Amino acid sequence: MRTPKHDQFMEMVLGSQNIVALTGAGLSTSAGIPDFRSPKGIYADPTVAGERVFDINVFREDPTVFSSFFAKLYPQMKDAQPSKGHKMLKKLQDMRKLKCVITQNIDGLDVAAGCDPVIEVHGHIRDYVCIDSVHHKVPTTQLDADIRAGRPIKCPECGAWMKPDVVFFGEHVHNLEKALTEVQKADVLLIMGTSLTVYPVAGLPDYCSDETKIVILNGASTPLDAQADLVFHEDIDTFTELVRLA
Ligand code: OAD
Repeated sequence: MRTPKHDQFMEMVLGSQNIVALTGAGLSTSAGIPDFRSPKGIYADPTVAGERVFDINVFREDPTVFSSFFAKLYPQMKDAQPSKGHKMLKKLQDMRKLKCVITQNIDGLDVAAGCDPVIEVHGHIRDYVCIDSVHHKVPTTQLDADIRAGRPIKCPECGAWMKPDVVFFGEHVHNLEKALTEVQKADVLLIMGTSLTVYPVAGLPDYCSDETKIVILNGASTPLDAQADLVFHEDIDTFTELVRLA
C-alpha cells in the first residue's frame, strides 16, 4: 500500500539533481537471478561451496569449483531481461534526476536497461579473461558451450585458466575511485537490493556529504538503516508500482 513515505520519496526525487544508485543482487531477483544471502539465495544452496565459488585462491587451485557452479548461474543471467527496478532507474535517468548507477551486479542488466554510466565495481560476464598477468580476453559468447557444460576454460593464447571478467574475493574491485567520486557528488544515494555486507562497496555510503539524503530500498534490514533518511523494506517491483515509476 502506498504510504506518505512513498510521497516523501517522490518529493525527494523531484527536488534532486544528482541521484546516484548503489545496487545489488536484489535488483535482479525478479528477473530470475537468485541473490546471494537471502534464505533462497545462492549461498544457501547446499550444492554451492558458499563464497569459495568466487574466491581467487580456490579458483587457482581448482577452477572446477567455479566452472561447475557457474554452469547453472550463467544461463539464468544470460536469459534475463531488466526488471522493473532497472526500468525505474532508466526512468529516473530520463527525468534527468539519476546521474550514475554503481552496481555490484555482474549480470549487465543495468546496462541492458539503458542506464549510463554504470560503474560495474564487481565486473561483468560479457568477457572471459585469463588469470595470467596479461589478462587475455575472449567474448563470453564464444565460450557458451563450455560454460554451460561446466568445463574449466583455458586461454587460447597462453594456456592459463580463464574466468569471467568478474571480481573474485581476493581481487581488487574495479573503478572504486570513480565510484567514490560519484558518491561524493550525490544529493540522493538510492541503495537498492543489497545486504551492504561486502566491502569495499558497503563502505561507499561513508563518503557521502552531510547533505546527501540516503534512501534504502531492500527486502531485509541493512547495517545502514539507522543512518538512512528513508528506509523501505519492500519488494523492489512493488515499490516501483507504488511510486508510479514502473
Ligand atoms: P546479497 O544477496 O548479499 O543481498 C541482496 C539483498 O537484496 C538482500 O538483503 C535481500 O533481502 C534483498 N532482495 C532480494 N530480492 C529483493 C527484492 N525483490 N526486493 C527487495 N529486496 C530484495 O547481494 P549483494 O549485496 O549484491 O560478489 O552481494 C554483494 C556481493 O556478494 C555480490 O556482488 C557478490 C557476492 O559475493 C560477486 O559476485 C563478486
